[in-house]
Amino acid sequence: MKALILAGGLGTRLRPLTFSMPKPVVPLLGRPLIRHLIDPLPDEVDTVILAVSYMKDYLETYFQENDVGREIVLVNEDQPLGTGGALKNVSKWLDDTFFAFNGDVICSLDLDSMLASHRSRRGIGTMALWTVDDPSAFGVVAADDSGRITTFQEKPAPGEAISNSINAGAYIFEPELLDHIPEGVVSLEREVFPHVLHRGLYGFAFEGFWVDAGTRESFLRAQRTLLDVKGSTVPCPARRLAGVRLTGSNMIEATHLEPSEIGPNVYLEKGAEVRRGAKISDSMVMAGAVIGRDAVVSGSMIGPGAVVEDGAVVTGTILA
Ligand code: GTP
Repeated sequence: MKALILAGGLGTRLRPLTFSMPKPVVPLLGRPLIRHLIDPLPDEVDTVILAVSYMKDYLETYFQENDVGREIVLVNEDQPLGTGGALKNVSKWLDDTFFAFNGDVICSLDLDSMLASHRSRRGIGTMALWTVDDPSAFGVVAADDSGRITTFQEKPAPGEAISNSINAGAYIFEPELLDHIPEGVVSLEREVFPHVLHRGLYGFAFEGFWVDAGTRESFLRAQRTLLDVKGSTVPCPARRLAGVRLTGSNMIEATHLEPSEIGPNVYLEKGAEVRRGAKISDSMVMAGAVIGRDAVVSGSMIGPGAVVEDGAVVTGTILA
């Protein structure tokens, strides 16, 4: 079976980090974002098609250097074709039931159960549905009692949403869906789904967690969510942490740590440096970055090689 992952977006909301690396490889707790989608795929998925465009060479090199245990096929778009156009562009690889994912999704979805549900209903597709209090920033769906989706509403005005169920960006489709996608730049959500409802597009609601990690806030929320699920990981031997005050759940791979205050929700990548007196919370710090003496970092993503000067205060920022 094949899985398609949309990984060709510009990642503008994670700039300036995404000027030097594509969003799918930004490390989320020690693994590139996209590995959080690839690694838990069911065993029967032997091939992963990556629809790429922006910084495709970077992704190609990553997958040449890292064996992920499945065949990886990168399919390039000379210009980003949108979520629907990207699917159409990989049509020739998709000749049977396939998974498709928005590459930013971090969730607890049980893909085996979703596949069983899809097979029992025999529709053209199944869409994972997540429930939120305020759906105004999302694609909202309404379904009938059998789970069949009846209506789509993209980013409704506050108070006008038809339900609290949103499109979670994870799907199972039959290849027939590709016949309903026109050539060119096409949005799956706006230009394709509304036209295939008569063929049976079903919702699959799930519980647990779901985060679309495409912004600084939501990326750090995904980090916090995974830390809550998995708990802290700190380096061994613990003597590297001498003088470090740790709060809450964190993942610390950094090798140069001076006495400092770290946590909650901090990821320090291997090769990050933290100097004496620094305070870091709700942030990720990548390899080669330096957090200077008595600096304060919170709600931030610190890119590779970025230097936070001694005594600086960095809040709610992406540095690269
Ligand atoms: P922003 O520029 O910050 O909005 O990020 P983005 O470009 O990644 O857009 P968005 O977060 O809406 O995209 C959701 C998912 O679809 C991401 O995994 C993107 O990589 C992917 N994606 C968006 N547009 C395209 C496209 O034109 N082609 C392909 N192949 N993937 C896309």
